[in-house]
Amino acid sequence: MASPISTEKHGNVLVISSDNPPVNALGQAVREGLKNGIEQAASDNEIEAVVIRCDGRTFFAGADITEFGKAPKGPSLPEVCDAIEASEKPVVAAIHGTALGGGCEIALACHYRVAVPSAKLGLPEVKLGLIPGAAGTQRLPRLVGAEAALPLVVMGNPIPAKKAQAIGLVDELVGEGSLAQDAAEFARSKVGADIPRTSEMTNNQDGVKNPDLFDEFRAKNGRKLRGFDAPNAGIEAVKAAGEMAFEDGVKKERELFAKLMGGTQSAAMRHYFFAERAANKIDDVPADTPLIDVKKVGIIGAGTMGGGIAMNFLSAGIPVTILEMKQDALDRGTGTMRKNYENTAKRGRMTEEQVEGAMGLLTPTLEYDDLADCDLVIEAVYENMDVKKEVFAKLDEVVKDGAILASNTSYLDIDEIATATDRPGYVIGLHFFSPANVMKLLEVVRGEKTRDDVLATAMKLSKKIGKVAAVSGVCPGFIGNRMLSKRQEQANQLILEGANYWEVDEVLLDFGFPMGPFQMGDLAGLDIGWHRDPSKVTTVREALCAKGRFGQKAGKGFYDYDDARQRTPSDEVKQIIADFAEKEGNAQRDISKDEIRERLLYPMVNEGAKILEEGMAQRASDIDVVWINGYGWPLYTGGPMFWADTVGLDTVVAGLEKHGLPVSDYLRAKAQKGERLT
Ligand code: 3HC
Repeated sequence: MASPISTEKHGNVLVISSDNPPVNALGQAVREGLKNGIEQAASDNEIEAVVIRCDGRTFFAGADITEFGKAPKGPSLPEVCDAIEASEKPVVAAIHGTALGGGCEIALACHYRVAVPSAKLGLPEVKLGLIPGAAGTQRLPRLVGAEAALPLVVMGNPIPAKKAQAIGLVDELVGEGSLAQDAAEFARSKVGADIPRTSEMTNNQDGVKNPDLFDEFRAKNGRKLRGFDAPNAGIEAVKAAGEMAFEDGVKKERELFAKLMGGTQSAAMRHYFFAERAANKIDDVPADTPLIDVKKVGIIGAGTMGGGIAMNFLSAGIPVTILEMKQDALDRGTGTMRKNYENTAKRGRMTEEQVEGAMGLLTPTLEYDDLADCDLVIEAVYENMDVKKEVFAKLDEVVKDGAILASNTSYLDIDEIATATDRPGYVIGLHFFSPANVMKLLEVVRGEKTRDDVLATAMKLSKKIGKVAAVSGVCPGFIGNRMLSKRQEQANQLILEGANYWEVDEVLLDFGFPMGPFQMGDLAGLDIGWHRDPSKVTTVREALCAKGRFGQKAGKGFYDYDDARQRTPSDEVKQIIADFAEKEGNAQRDISKDEIRERLLYPMVNEGAKILEEGMAQRASDIDVVWINGYGWPLYTGGPMFWADTVGLDTVVAGLEKHGLPVSDYLRAKAQKGERLT
């Protein structure tokens, strides 16, 4: 097989090019070719400098993740980096696209780095539960200082080339169209000069002079990093870079890297990396399905949901017409959207110009006819089948042929909604999560008659508006809420049997969820859907509402809240629950945290298995994508399906049986055969 690496002489400069689509991952053949290229440069007397560059859409985007966990072949990435750095002839990295992970480490091993302004550089290994493993944690701080290196290594977010230049990671920005020539020229200009080797630099002494730097960084970012192993290892490695000789620091990095690579967190996060990409593919819809051009979007409803949905499209530069029934509701809705944008601008994440640009794409209206020329209309009205059908019948009348009609319903039957139209093939569910301008997940609900091009367009569009999409079949609550309802059933039951509600929340917090079910209830408002009759009490929730305990907004719900919204468990509520349980004939007992955890989570796994059995999700990993992005399931466990595989399906089945809970045939069969869900 031809090598993905080729070399070409441009006078006294050897240009080493990689062509390994799609992202020039540093697989075995690439590493081998790079090492050979450096050897060729060393042995050719006509060559005085070297450029390393890539064809295609990007500079090396990292190690080849598909090789992880397999026996290493050919030169390792650290060996290749060392060979580059040891070159006696200056080596320049010519960067475009994304120089990530191992790609950034190659660039760090080069003696100079030039980049086009649109390029990004970063060390995203933490997002795979790892730290850089080719001396990135040792070379980067030596080049840019510990303080500048920490966010790159520990948070893993890439930075634009201009910022990289400002911190000293990039030496020179060059023209977008002339990277190869400019890099060769730059390399030529360095012939004869002393060679700067990153491993010999000492800019990392800032962390030695001020060792508090590391604890301060940890304290500042603690909440975001809660539960993850890799970020702490990253801090340790950057700290070691200041305290140790390069070779010892590299050894330390290697130890930390190997430990993380062998752990479950990294396996889970690598599973998630591929899960997210797989979720975008629909098995029975060809990849080349022609798409519907969505140039203009209509939204029905300017409430919290409709407004949030609209913002996604506006932010992506797609014009939106938003419809309400009354002028004051329309004004309120558009006012909230503007306020949200302005708050983002205040936090420096948007310019005033961008705010005006987004709002300038919005057309508020009270007339259905104004939606006529939209290519996609999404309704976000009240969750009621009759109301939804009425809206769809109206849309079918006014909106042009060939346009997609979508519902944001979170549990209603899309197929039934589609019967209100003469174009059921163009009807689809687009279930956004609240707040819709923030939450990553988009559950795309495929109706029985939904056309391939409609589905393919929805998937493509989701990427354009920055969402992570997963497809669900039509079933009550789809993937996410269907599984949530099983958890909620158990949570409600557990407190009637004697578990403290705050312990139920704590179990989920300890597991890694951002909040538990009772905190969530308080936040959303316990009076949502309440019949408002204090004398009619059939659930604990109604009992709390009868006492005016509506949740956070009332200062009391399941918890009591102080002015700073700090929560404390309430004795009154504990009594209300005990009284209600007694009335219902529930005996109270002590319930262990293990039992609470098993009863909350195992039924979700069982429901996920049923969803798979019924073909409502294409693959187990799609369920993980839904739960991680829509419900705060901790990423480092890989999602409910991957987590169940880690725990062992036989353990899950045994747990369900122990607690007298149902076990689906599908889950039982998988467990008996020793198979996995993912
Ligand atoms: N290894 C193997 N495959 C990779 C890959 C990698 N590092 N990066 C991307 N791919 C694959 C994807 O799985 C996808 O495959 P598919 O088409 O079969 O689904 C394809 O390349 C295209 O990727 P995306 O769909 O993600 O393309 P985008 O254009 O949206 O994004 C990207 C491009 C920003 C480069 C993104 O793919 C990305 O973030 N990649 C991962 C980068 C990364 O984590 N690098 C660090 C790796 S770990 C490492 O380097 C360890 C070292 O320190 C020793």
